[in-house]
Amino acid sequence: MSSKEIFEERRSINFFDTEKSLDDNLLKDIINLAALAPSAFNLQPWEIVAVKSKEAKEKLYRLSSNQPKVLEAPVTLIIAGDKNGYDKTNPIWDIFLKNFNGDEEKLANVQGYAYSLYGTSDERKIKFAESNAALLAMSIMYAAKSFGVDSHPMSGIDFEGIKKEFELDDNKTVVMTIALGYLDETKTLYPRAYRKNYEEIVKEV
Ligand SMILES: Cc1cc2nc3c(=O)[nH]c(=O)nc-3n(C[C@H](O)[C@H](O)[C@H](O)COP(=O)(O)O)c2cc1C
Repeated sequence: MSSKEIFEERRSINFFDTEKSLDDNLLKDIINLAALAPSAFNLQPWEIVAVKSKEAKEKLYRLSSNQPKVLEAPVTLIIAGDKNGYDKTNPIWDIFLKNFNGDEEKLANVQGYAYSLYGTSDERKIKFAESNAALLAMSIMYAAKSFGVDSHPMSGIDFEGIKKEFELDDNKTVVMTIALGYLDETKTLYPRAYRKNYEEIVKEV
């Protein structure tokens, strides 16, 4: 499947085939491919909870406005961003230090710059966490499609409830969930909805 076809054929599918599971190795392949997504300073401030068991699905279903796809899809991913992902505890900084040949001062300067950009207000922290994690989310949907796996993103969910019930750290923010699996071929999707075009989206200056 070409990249163009992946873009054209990815849909948010409402109907998952409940008879088809998603192979564990395939899920790993999807996530590892999607993890090539870009992130600020390559800090990768994200975490995923893969909801697979019947019990966990039922819990997530109740926190997702009872959207049936959470029960029907073999896996739903909770995509969370890390509001503190810019700070010194992120192990990615160790790679920076190595690349700087152990120059601690240089590392401190870059960390200070990242803090000034992403750490000086709650609004900046949330923007940092959510913008990066949203890129991962999109990357997951395209990676899935490239392996022939369908998806459905959801934000009609109880963000705070999911954070609490799935025991995410305080510094995490739930960005969206993504159901993964295979279309129930007995059902028909609505045709692709209208999309705004270049003239409607872009202001040239
Ligand atoms: C962040 C995000 C949240 C969404 N939340 C929901 C949701 O909670 N329930 C739902 O049925 N669809 C949800 N959608 C799916 C959109 O309705 C869908 O992407 C849009 O109508 C375009 O359809 P397509 O993805 O098939 O091209 C969401 C999509 C995005 C990107």
